[in-house]
Amino acid sequence: MVLLSLCGLCLTQDCNKQLLEDVDFPGMDITFQYSPDVYHCQQLCTQHPSCRFFTFLRSDWTRDESYFKCYLKTTDSGEVAAENPLNGVTSGFSLKGCTPELQPCLPKVYPNVDFFGADYTALFTADHEECQRACTQDPGCQFFTFVHEDFVTESIRFKCHLKYSPSIPVPPIVEKEPGVVSGFSQNIQFPQQSTEACEGKLFPAISIPHNNLKTYPALCPEHCRALCSAHPSCTYFSYDSNEFKCHLKNNREKMETISEEGFTSGFPARFCWLDENWLKVAHKDVDFQGSDIRFEVTDDAVSCQRKCNEDPICQFYTYVTETHPPEYRRHCYLKRTITMPAPSNVKKLNNVTSGFPLRSCVNIATHPKVSSI
Ligand SMILES: *[C@@H]1O[C@H](CO)[C@@H](O)[C@H](O)[C@H]1NC(C)=O
Repeated sequence: MVLLSLCGLCLTQDCNKQLLEDVDFPGMDITFQYSPDVYHCQQLCTQHPSCRFFTFLRSDWTRDESYFKCYLKTTDSGEVAAENPLNGVTSGFSLKGCTPELQPCLPKVYPNVDFFGADYTALFTADHEECQRACTQDPGCQFFTFVHEDFVTESIRFKCHLKYSPSIPVPPIVEKEPGVVSGFSQNIQFPQQSTEACEGKLFPAISIPHNNLKTYPALCPEHCRALCSAHPSCTYFSYDSNEFKCHLKNNREKMETISEEGFTSGFPARFCWLDENWLKVAHKDVDFQGSDIRFEVTDDAVSCQRKCNEDPICQFYTYVTETHPPEYRRHCYLKRTITMPAPSNVKKLNNVTSGFPLRSCVNIATHPKVSSI
């Protein structure tokens, strides 16, 4: 970790891998997300821009139905304010200070756990191992749920549900703001699926009004195309540059376009190496609001971009130029969002098994006997 004297929210982050069972770190919640276990929760905290520590409600949490909730937390000092005994929870720390794996290997499978929702396709497989292989081999699959042969609804026995959560950065707010400059780290990994280069045609002043699948904030048409390429159900997209909105579309039968200024449309690039030069382009008068890891003071936007490239945690940045009020001037805000597989809901359900693909598990993927306790 590089530590500079001129920075905010950048207190030293120690590498502390300790997990405290039946200990609660009370209060100071930033947000919660669902996790099947404490290790996944710890990775979520590591990937969250401002999370310093967390408390996870395990499956044996009995007070209410809040089990599988992963509470992401911080304090002004970065230190835990209190440690209280509490049955059914495990607390721990962000691994930001530990040279974290940003695409962690999550080899465990979870019997009687449903990763509810977020389905993009399904198939039938003989067992959950085969379902996990199906997920591993589909570049869009981020997690899965397999229905066993003793499941109560007969017609969905052996069904393998493949699921998606965003695997590339989606800044929560992108908006016009005079006097700031924003852009991406050049180290962002896109799920490139071929070594053959391609340009990827864009259609300026063309919009596709129907068949909306999902809308995300996005910086430019190329960012929108990356989001479409990563989403397995996206058949084409339409980017609105006035609103900074990326509309992913789903219709495998037809495509209806209209002329509309301010819109750019295009297709996903799934069969070629998509040009990544757009990552170098800084956008003037656009703000990525929130998602701050920390800020530093730099001379110009180019140095800010370099700072972001140099920090493995940073995915995107916003630099405040001289025209702004003095207290923010020359601040370089380094930012990120969670891009690891993150189920939107995790529930208890008998006779199903859920898990993650083994794509990031270089060594483990070759060993067939990876299962959970
Ligand atoms: C799970 O399987 C058991 C028997 O193996 C059965 O009694 C139970 O109803 C099943 N539950 C669900 C939700 O499928």
